[in-house]
Amino acid sequence: MAETMFGLKRSMMCGEPVMNDVGREVVMTGWCRKQRNLGGLIFINLRDRSGEMQIVVDEDSSDEVRSKAGSVRSEYVLAVKGKIRERSSPNPNMPTGFIEVLAEEIRILSEAETPPFYIEENVDTNESLRLKYRYLDLRRPDMQQKMIARHRIAKCARDYFDSIGFLEIETPVLTKSTPEGARDYLVPSRVQPGKYYALPQSPQLFKQLLMLSGYDKYMQIARCFRDEDLRADRQPEFTQIDLEMSFVDADDVMEVNEGFIAKVFKDVLDVDVPLPVERLEYKDAMERFGSDKPDMRFGMELKDISDIASDIDFAPFRVALECGGSVRCINMPGGAALSRKEIDSLAEHVKTYRAKGLPWITCGDEPRGSILKFVSREDLDRIYDRAGSKSGDMIFIASDINDVVFDALGHLRTELAERFDLYERDEYRFVWVTHFPLLEYDEEEKRYAAKHHPFTSPMDEDIGLLGSDPLKVRAKAYDLVLNGCELGGGSIRIHDQSLQKKMFALLGFTEEQAFERFGFLLNAFRYGVPPHGGLAFGLDRLAMLMTGSSSIRDVIAFPKVQNASCLMSDAPGIVDQVQLDELKLRNT
Ligand code: AMO
Repeated sequence: MAETMFGLKRSMMCGEPVMNDVGREVVMTGWCRKQRNLGGLIFINLRDRSGEMQIVVDEDSSDEVRSKAGSVRSEYVLAVKGKIRERSSPNPNMPTGFIEVLAEEIRILSEAETPPFYIEENVDTNESLRLKYRYLDLRRPDMQQKMIARHRIAKCARDYFDSIGFLEIETPVLTKSTPEGARDYLVPSRVQPGKYYALPQSPQLFKQLLMLSGYDKYMQIARCFRDEDLRADRQPEFTQIDLEMSFVDADDVMEVNEGFIAKVFKDVLDVDVPLPVERLEYKDAMERFGSDKPDMRFGMELKDISDIASDIDFAPFRVALECGGSVRCINMPGGAALSRKEIDSLAEHVKTYRAKGLPWITCGDEPRGSILKFVSREDLDRIYDRAGSKSGDMIFIASDINDVVFDALGHLRTELAERFDLYERDEYRFVWVTHFPLLEYDEEEKRYAAKHHPFTSPMDEDIGLLGSDPLKVRAKAYDLVLNGCELGGGSIRIHDQSLQKKMFALLGFTEEQAFERFGFLLNAFRYGVPPHGGLAFGLDRLAMLMTGSSSIRDVIAFPKVQNASCLMSDAPGIVDQVQLDELKLRNT
């Protein structure tokens, strides 16, 4: 039978006591991690989210205490009253391992069935099972540390932005479509059948309106919803640390946010982030790393060898160059030792990124390589020189249109580093990527699309190109990248109505369409808009990287899986006909 706490009040958490507390009478509560009955002595390891304490019952303990302790099983919830004493045989692997509590009273507050997996640190349990029983998974100390770290990151964000004059203002969750480019989650209106709210993909439009309303320096820890494919760093429902400022330029926004990053890394991890954070223009990021979110922890930069390749009579090179593409390579230090099997598997890997092949050449006295017979000794030396190869290295080459070359070599670069452990895993390397293109061309829809969103301002010096060469126009947009992961992104916004109209026209919106979607913003912009800009961090991604987690799911208490369902609650679920009728919806 479960007992009550009646009369007992917790005085200390399990992980709290230190040597100085020896002799103190305490009441502790928590879950039994394990119970060991050695006959004379019974040990119970009691844990809560602060840590663990060894409870001991010995021959001198009362019969009642001995019998209670003997009946305790794993995951029972207990309250224990007793005295802290020094352990005769300390456990140096446990933070509280030099003390224990000699129990005077034990109450079993709740019994527990045997859980479906061990509730231990770093258990190697199938993730689906962990997610089905997420409440038990969350009881594990490593998960608790992650949740605590996430709380501290969010708190640090609020404190930091408050300390420099930001206000936290909430924006609606039932709203109209926001322009972040993913599919919307829709909520049907009961009172207006046939009409739908969209859940916000971000608070973008509202934060811009708040600038217009005079709430300079807004921040919000905001829930966002995007119906897009899940990945290790993507959830359909995620959280942003979102902010917007008035009367600023891109440098001001970046500076404020670097300050936050430095503070949160210092406060939560005691890591110093050197400021200012390095900056890289988008074009250079692509040319050097083949990615707009480059991992700066390792080299293996891309090198353009198109000029050398134009002398080489190898059909794929010729075709690539003829269609305006390029031939580029990366040099892998020590890569000459790779086996054929490894090389083949890398070639398979780059196929995912549309590369048709992966020519390779080793560097050394007797070079080997898939395209060696096409390359003269002189050209070979030029390639080695360009790639910075030394004896024992390996050169991988891609030739295609630039997008494919960048994508294939960019991913190959990170794959090599990952597979062959070519970098310091616990290093944090930040970089701002700036000067993004304003637009990209959507081949499927045969129209321009905003690379960021339609409110992003072009760079002043490129405005003239909007009419003549739109794809050359660069944006006042910036992303903060950490170890190859996009942590946050933002931009300076358009605050000039005529420029905004031009932008909508370029994106293929008629005036009516633009009004239908963003009318409230466009109307508002008639009444005095301060120049403004902002940024949003992915809180989940920040927490993932700061806790060394390999998946964003590990820092979200109740995450979704690949098909956007929650294995614990079984959402999304079927609803009954009455609810559907109320909404005037039919089940297909
Ligand atoms: P953006 O779309 O770049 O910008 O999003 C900002 C940051 O949010 C995180 N993020 C995600 N995290 C987890 N799961 C997802 N599905 C997901 N999508 C995005 C990323 C990303 O860098 N309104 C603009 C910001 C602005 O311009 O101020 C916006 O939402 O870390």
